Amino acid sequence: MSHLILARSRNDMRQHLKIWRDQGKKIALVPTMGALHNGHIALIELGKQYADHVVTSIFVNPTQFGPNEDLARYPRQEDEDRAKLCTIGCDLLYAPNLEELYPQGFQTRIELGAITQRLEGVFRPHFFSGVATVVAKLLLQVTPDLAIFGEKDWQQVQVVSTMVKDLDLDVTILTAPTVRDPDGLALSSRNAYLNAEERRLAPKLKSALDKIAHQLKTNPAGLDFIVGQAKQDLLAAGFREIDYLEVCHSLTLEPWQLGDPARILVAAWLGQTRLIDNIGTS
Ligand code: PAF
Repeated sequence: MSHLILARSRNDMRQHLKIWRDQGKKIALVPTMGALHNGHIALIELGKQYADHVVTSIFVNPTQFGPNEDLARYPRQEDEDRAKLCTIGCDLLYAPNLEELYPQGFQTRIELGAITQRLEGVFRPHFFSGVATVVAKLLLQVTPDLAIFGEKDWQQVQVVSTMVKDLDLDVTILTAPTVRDPDGLALSSRNAYLNAEERRLAPKLKSALDKIAHQLKTNPAGLDFIVGQAKQDLLAAGFREIDYLEVCHSLTLEPWQLGDPARILVAAWLGQTRLIDNIGTS
């Protein structure tokens, strides 16, 4: 178990980072909203491979939640998170309060174009602007050499990468594969909302993605039919609603065309819980 520095203010955090920077050390940032699980731990492990020091931020960012979303009930468990960060050997936890990121009078938003207007952007129109704004702030406050994001939020990774490129931010974005439970369910802090029956059904999301990936490999001409059938199967199994289940160009997220690199993405509701997942095709 290593020593974890806790910084609540940007100044405090930067004082610690200055010592490492003066020693020529490389710093990785893993931005999170807490309720840490093994998916986050994999991001921190990756950070440890590529940098000398890993900073994890925990901030439940209000600007990425819509008015009827789960901001109030989003799991907050800082004590458990701190224990996990100590065990994994994270060097510094940056856990700012609201004022540190959105001080009185804050009025700037970062808006991206087409890439934010599909998939998640259709169903959560506020989401990517909130993510881009807070990630930009965290990158500017921490100024890490690397920042690490999970492929579970595939569209988020593409949005952040586009923003970093468009704004010439001096940071390398690394990604880590989705971590799954043995039955295929992608780890997510929101899985805690699922009741026992919903948890039993949840891995069907990954099975639907696998079926479509197989079709794409063997007979792409029959893709529309298989996607339609996969949606019907999910609804018949007990999913309440499917926001989207689509094959897309893996980087632009535009609808997939023959020859494009493909990513299959889904968002669906089990009761009151919205789950997202995605896979690539190789
Ligand atoms: O993926 C998340 O947990 C959040 O969207 C992020 C990147 C920490 C921004 O609040």
